Amino acid sequence: MSLKNVRLEVMQFLEKDVDSLIEKYLIPVESIWQPTDFLPNSEKDGFLDDVKEIRELSKELPYDFWVVLVGDMITEEALPTYESWLMDVEGVDQVGRNSWGKWVRHWTAEENRHGDVLNKYLYLSGRVNMKEIEKTTQYLIADGFDIGTDRDPYKNFLYTSFQELATYISHNRVAKLAKDKGNKQLAKMCKIISGDEMRHHHAYCEFVERIFKVDPSQMMLAFQHMMKLKITMPAHFLRESGERISTAFEEFSHTAQRIGVYTSHDYVDILQKLIQRWEIDKITNLTDDAEKARDYLMKLPSRLTRLSERMKIPENSYQFKWVEPAI
Ligand SMILES: [Fe+2]
Ligand SMILES: [Fe+2]
Repeated sequence: MSLKNVRLEVMQFLEKDVDSLIEKYLIPVESIWQPTDFLPNSEKDGFLDDVKEIRELSKELPYDFWVVLVGDMITEEALPTYESWLMDVEGVDQVGRNSWGKWVRHWTAEENRHGDVLNKYLYLSGRVNMKEIEKTTQYLIADGFDIGTDRDPYKNFLYTSFQELATYISHNRVAKLAKDKGNKQLAKMCKIISGDEMRHHHAYCEFVERIFKVDPSQMMLAFQHMMKLKITMPAHFLRESGERISTAFEEFSHTAQRIGVYTSHDYVDILQKLIQRWEIDKITNLTDDAEKARDYLMKLPSRLTRLSERMKIPENSYQFKWVEPAI
């Protein structure tokens, strides 16, 4: 049987449990938070005062902070790219409305609230150039992404397991920075987003765990493949208006590193957490290739730590069109 057919068979085999995994990891519409729970209510008389307060508190936060929040928001707003990508993964059947398709729709519906709440908050903050941000978002959706996962469910679920934890870290650190500056409302908002990301991370980890149980060698090779390639962030094609795709993403990640929102140490930490979570060292019944892949993965965190210690991050902020220079 070809590798593709084995993957399809595994996806079909796992599909019977996906409905219960949706119940386990996702929250029904009627009980989950909505963006308006964290934003001023425009139907109320006190709306303008609340907006004023947001604008006052926003002045306390530094330039790099806004760049990171904008970059995070744009990454969330490119959700159409991620949904269409996942719908195309082998075993996900949109037309047949199978449970994998249902997972993708329900996951997307939860994720959609993230860009929504961040977008509205940034608009009210008065600290950012919304038109420039909107142009970047449109560019990013038009440019799409290339994360090296192909249509392979193993590689895609590996990617999403990693990526959801990365976004958890990033939103959670932004929450902490906002809290330290006395901005409780923004802190709460980013904290609740990070909670969603954590649930999603656990869900994708369970998908991978289940694949490891039935097809360990191929799952191990997919893990190795993705780590050799390096996990590319979903907004790696980021660009500013009038520019080509080149520097914006790099400068955005430098900014995130500079203020400690997402660093190369976090990348290694995530890898280590995944290795522990799936008990990679204890997986047996592997082909020779997969044994080698496991050895490679077990040694990778210490190798990457050495590399990340040598990395230098520019000290000065990069001037983006999204945020006016600090006053
Ligand atoms: Fe998100
Ligand atoms: Fe997410």
